[in-house]
Amino acid sequence: MVLNRRATPLRRGLVLVGFLSMWTLPALAQRRVEVTLTAAPTRLSLVPGAPTEIFTYNGQFPGPALEFREGDRVTVHFRNDLPEPTTIHWHGLHLPFTSDGSPFHPVAPGETYDYVFTIQPGTAGTYWYHPHPHHRTGYQIAKGLYGAVIVRAADDPLKKLPEKLIVISDNRFAADNSIDLPASLSEAGIVDRENGREGDIVFVNGAVMPTIRIRAGEVQRWRVINASAARVYRLSLPGHKLLHVGSDGGLFERAVEVDEIVVANAERVELLVRGTGSPGDRVVLQALPYDRYIPQTRPQTWNHTRDLLALQYTKQRPVTAEPVPALLRPVPVLDTTLSSATRLMVLTQGMINGQMMDHNRVDVAAKLGATEIWEVENLVGMDHPFHLHGFQFQVLDRNGVPEPFRAWKDVVNVPKHGSARFIVRYATFPGKWMFHCHILDHEDHGMMGILEVIEERNAEARITKRSK
Ligand code: C2O
Ligand code: CU
Ligand code: CU
Repeated sequence: MVLNRRATPLRRGLVLVGFLSMWTLPALAQRRVEVTLTAAPTRLSLVPGAPTEIFTYNGQFPGPALEFREGDRVTVHFRNDLPEPTTIHWHGLHLPFTSDGSPFHPVAPGETYDYVFTIQPGTAGTYWYHPHPHHRTGYQIAKGLYGAVIVRAADDPLKKLPEKLIVISDNRFAADNSIDLPASLSEAGIVDRENGREGDIVFVNGAVMPTIRIRAGEVQRWRVINASAARVYRLSLPGHKLLHVGSDGGLFERAVEVDEIVVANAERVELLVRGTGSPGDRVVLQALPYDRYIPQTRPQTWNHTRDLLALQYTKQRPVTAEPVPALLRPVPVLDTTLSSATRLMVLTQGMINGQMMDHNRVDVAAKLGATEIWEVENLVGMDHPFHLHGFQFQVLDRNGVPEPFRAWKDVVNVPKHGSARFIVRYATFPGKWMFHCHILDHEDHGMMGILEVIEERNAEARITKRSK
């Protein structure tokens, strides 16, 4: 029997799009999950006034939130009804090369493509999907193509908590309410190319300043995705400390109490909001100023605080929440003594190691199963969030300061004139994997390279020497 429930917009909650059949194996409930996604031009009302011509998945903005479980065998039946080639990239998921939706596998207008992958054990977390065609990623995401992916573990320690998904993205509109995408050689186009395109309207789940309700005393789990092309959010909830419990690849070992959390573009955070206010209170989740820019093109409004959403306390009497478990889940250590190479990546404006992206070049070749350290050095006076496809890594240090806790990541924001080191193991899937700056304008203009992971039997002839 085919169950094909349509997903509802994100603000109404998390919905599994559909599944074909389901069976249980002794240790792991392994299901087959089938999802149908169609990208197509759509007119939707996003801001007051005339509707806007955008691109959507299944007619929704953002696209439907997909919910999977560890062990699921997923097939996404994709259809491209856009007037141009596209792909769907499963940002952060560990999957076969042919299902990565990188620029190596474009889907032409009118064509279909099946993305087939199994959700790996231990990968419960918050991910997202977005197009990744050659040179057009920023354009297609600006037009509205992105959505959340939630992967759940059977033994999720926070499963009892009420959950909110918060997909943040900014955009800019012309006077006629069309998406403002300036010509690349115009003044605004050049600023976008330097800074990364930002907009003054911030959407949370496709809405401006939505409201989340909380009961006094309640603890909520928030999954935050920064789907913006370039904007970084420094989240703060006045009067509330936040419990930071997870990042790109899922939960930490232990919750960390903080006043604010920086979410660079393409990063995700999981946090717990404790309803320490009183019934009827209202607070606003804010983005505090964050200076990621070079002074020459820094927007004048960079130091404004932005309101993202309202947290409205209900009138109900307070409840007492259960304590947050001390151990969330074990996060295995990637042992630096097992590293067989250190890869140095030097970022300059628009380039990695002095080169622009070339589909026919392999920048790093490595053996399947190898563990390596990447050292990313940013010579530029603006931040560059560095992303690797295919494999989750662990950040070792930033600017030489050891990371305060162990976490699975797929994006690390490399601060201006700073550096970051991470360790990664190329487990399971051979293929060509992109690494790039996730400021979409930088990525589209070639601030990207290719890691080729090669199976042992093919390896010897082709492995590059240590780059450092
Ligand atoms: Cu979010 Cu190359 O991807
Ligand atoms: Cu990616
Ligand atoms: Cu960049």
